[in-house]
Amino acid sequence: MYLPCMSLMLFHLLALHALVYPCQASRFNDETDKQALVEFQSHLTENSRLVLASSWNKSFHLCNWTGIICGRRHKRVTGLDLSGMKLTGVISPSIGNLSFLASLILSDNSFHGSIPLEVGKLFRLQHLNLSNNVLGGGISLGIPNCSALLTNDLSSNNLEHDVPSELGSLSSLVILSLRGNNLTGRFPASLGNLTSLRKLDIEYNRMEGMIPYSVSRLARMKYLRIAGNSFSGVFPRPICNLSSLLFLSIPDNRFYGKLRPDIDQLFPDIQVLFLGGNKFEGEIPSSLANITSLRKFDIEECHMTGSIPLSFGRLHNLEILALAYNSLGNYSSRDLDFIGSLNNCTQLQFLGVGYNKLGGNLPPLISNLSSLLTYLFLGGNAISGSIPLDIGNLESLQSFKVEQNLLTGDIPSSFGNLSMVTQIYLYNNDFKGSIPSSLGNCTYLLYLGLDSNMLCGSIPRELMNVPSLVTLDISHNNLTGQIPNEVGKALRNLQLLDLSNNNLSGTIPEYLVNLSAIQFLNLSVNNLDGPVPTEGTFQKSRNVSVFGNKNLCGGIAELKLKPCLETKAREHSSTRRKIAIGVGAAVTLFILSVMVIISLSLGSRNEG
Ligand SMILES: *[C@@H]1O[C@H](CO)[C@@H](O)[C@H](O)[C@H]1NC(C)=O
Ligand SMILES: *[C@@H]1O[C@H](CO)[C@@H](O)[C@H](O)[C@H]1NC(C)=O
Ligand SMILES: *[C@@H]1O[C@H](CO)[C@@H](O)[C@H](O)[C@H]1NC(C)=O
Ligand SMILES: *[C@@H]1O[C@H](CO)[C@@H](O)[C@H](O)[C@H]1NC(C)=O
Ligand SMILES: *[C@@H]1O[C@H](CO)[C@@H](O)[C@H](O)[C@H]1NC(C)=O
Ligand SMILES: *[C@@H]1O[C@H](CO)[C@@H](O)[C@H](O)[C@H]1NC(C)=O
Ligand SMILES: *[C@@H]1O[C@H](CO)[C@@H](O)[C@H](O)[C@H]1NC(C)=O
Ligand SMILES: *[C@@H]1O[C@H](CO)[C@@H](O)[C@H](O)[C@H]1NC(C)=O
Ligand SMILES: *[C@@H]1O[C@H](CO)[C@@H](O)[C@H](O)[C@H]1NC(C)=O
Ligand SMILES: *[C@@H]1O[C@H](CO)[C@@H](O)[C@H](O)[C@H]1NC(C)=O
Ligand SMILES: *[C@@H]1O[C@H](CO)[C@@H](O)[C@H](O)[C@H]1NC(C)=O
Ligand SMILES: *[C@@H]1O[C@H](CO)[C@@H](O)[C@H](O)[C@H]1NC(C)=O
Repeated sequence: MYLPCMSLMLFHLLALHALVYPCQASRFNDETDKQALVEFQSHLTENSRLVLASSWNKSFHLCNWTGIICGRRHKRVTGLDLSGMKLTGVISPSIGNLSFLASLILSDNSFHGSIPLEVGKLFRLQHLNLSNNVLGGGISLGIPNCSALLTNDLSSNNLEHDVPSELGSLSSLVILSLRGNNLTGRFPASLGNLTSLRKLDIEYNRMEGMIPYSVSRLARMKYLRIAGNSFSGVFPRPICNLSSLLFLSIPDNRFYGKLRPDIDQLFPDIQVLFLGGNKFEGEIPSSLANITSLRKFDIEECHMTGSIPLSFGRLHNLEILALAYNSLGNYSSRDLDFIGSLNNCTQLQFLGVGYNKLGGNLPPLISNLSSLLTYLFLGGNAISGSIPLDIGNLESLQSFKVEQNLLTGDIPSSFGNLSMVTQIYLYNNDFKGSIPSSLGNCTYLLYLGLDSNMLCGSIPRELMNVPSLVTLDISHNNLTGQIPNEVGKALRNLQLLDLSNNNLSGTIPEYLVNLSAIQFLNLSVNNLDGPVPTEGTFQKSRNVSVFGNKNLCGGIAELKLKPCLETKAREHSSTRRKIAIGVGAAVTLFILSVMVIISLSLGSRNEG
């Protein structure tokens, strides 16, 4: 008779409470908390229940269970934090019975199903973090009832439908993240009521329409991220009122129009301005250089024109300058003058101006850029001149991309000093001279593209010291000599090897059959001779191209080369050849005479 006795006792306690301890309404309700948690646990999969089982033991006090935080005095559950415990299951509606809950953190698990309406009963809830699960359905209409919410993070789930306008009632909200879901519809005007908001992130959903005027009321906003939706309109006017912004990210939407020349007055403290992947046009405002706090500026893949402002050099904190894929420059000799001005930007890590209309000579000052520079992208312009000999000064460089320009001169051997480099793209230029053997010192190199230049000399054996290479394209040059024997042995990660359209001679090294990762091997249009292997790499004709070598033979039938027998014989000892010829002749003679005898005897039988 344990239970009735218990409840009798509880009744007694309650009665006492009412009379003696009017302020301490606890005992009864922490049992409700326990029930709610047991119910919560029962909605998990069996494995997940086991994860909690050892600590969520009814014989321990609730407040000692994993992930539970209790109030100091009343011992009610105020926090549930089960972040990153690999839990799977649905979120039980019983969660709404944890009436003292201030913090509910279930991020980095695999909760599925929808967010229960019952969270709306948690009127003390301040922090809700359900990010990085697989929750579906719409944003629960319970959430707008959690009027104490300060932070609400529902990012990286599968939530869909419109953002409920009721969220605009969460007047204390400081952080709202709905990033990385499948939300649709418009930006609710009611969110303009969230005047405490400092951080709003709705990136990577499928929302559309204009940014409502009410957003201009979010005067405390510091981080606004709306990239990767289909929002439209001119540079969003309401955002221009947010003068406290430190971080604005709006790439990959459908915004258009010009950037305001007074941008420095709109966002005087901004540090990060990501605008790329829209249809912005016109010039880059030179007033940007007045925003000394600016660290990252990205307007890649828009329709910007005009010159690149020299004033960027005044931005001493600049780390990222990403201007690629626009129509900047005028194919004129002054287009690259801005590079010299960047020498004061000692924090610069990323400079991307590829695929614009930049002309002029590559300034030697390029090697004086910040020693922190990791990414240099000038490809797809009409840049002439040569690469300065001391390019190896840029010791942090990981990507050097100047492909598709009019560059000439030698490839400086100081490339060998770039010990971190993973990508070197020099293709489609007019580089001369030989491939520097120092490239063999670039031991992290993955992609080496030297094709379509006028390089001569042989393939340096030192390149075989770069086992990391995934792509080696030196086609369409004037290279001579043999293919280094070690290629197949040393460069085991190669996926693309293109040596075509050169003057390479000698035989195909047998180790090439061992390139197990290779997807395309092109040896065509050279002066190679001897047999084409039939094994490994050479088994599939779609992986291999060898045409245009006059003296190759053998290989698999699809390659349609002449058979090798004769060549092989010639390579071996001439005495054996003579013996072979002798034997061959004797056999032929024997067969012929047999045939003559047979035909004679047949003829005489017919006559008879
Ligand atoms: C709960 O704790 C008690 C006492 O430590 C122990 O005997 C019991 O096995 C535990 N139960 C579970 C399910 O771990
Ligand atoms: C929690 O466990 C500790 C020892 O592990 C114990 O000292 C403490 O009293 C327990 N607290 C409650 C509320 O049961
Ligand atoms: C919440 O608690 C009440 C009272 O203890 C109970 O009747 C109800 O079933 C609980 N709700 C859920 C969803 O567990
Ligand atoms: C939510 O949890 C994730 C992962 O634990 C964390 O990175 C994120 O900052 C949290 N969100 C908020 C608003 O605190
Ligand atoms: C939210 O609050 C309103 C009014 O306070 C109430 O009518 C409604 O039932 C609540 N919804 C939920 C899901 O708690
Ligand atoms: C988003 O919704 C679309 C259409 O309903 C669906 O095809 C897609 O898989 C969803 N994406 C995610 C990440 O849930
Ligand atoms: C919230 O904003 C909407 C639209 O901007 C407005 O109609 C509504 O009155 C506001 N509600 C509150 C509670 O301020
Ligand atoms: C937004 O800025 C414009 C002028 O730039 C001003 O007229 C308007 O009052 C501002 N709106 C708010 C809500 O601050
Ligand atoms: C920078 O700001 C000053 C003062 O507001 C202004 O006079 C100047 O024109 C601005 N510079 C640029 C390049 O816009
Ligand atoms: C670079 O800094 C030096 C010294 O601070 C200054 O004299 C020079 O004008 C600056 N150059 C640019 C382009 O800002
Ligand atoms: C390449 O490395 C070798 C051995 O570490 C060194 O002797 C040589 O000078 C280096 N060459 C270049 C160009 O860095
Ligand atoms: C290639 O090199 C050979 C001799 O090394 C030279 O005769 C020929 O003109 C060169 N071809 C090109 C296109 O540079």
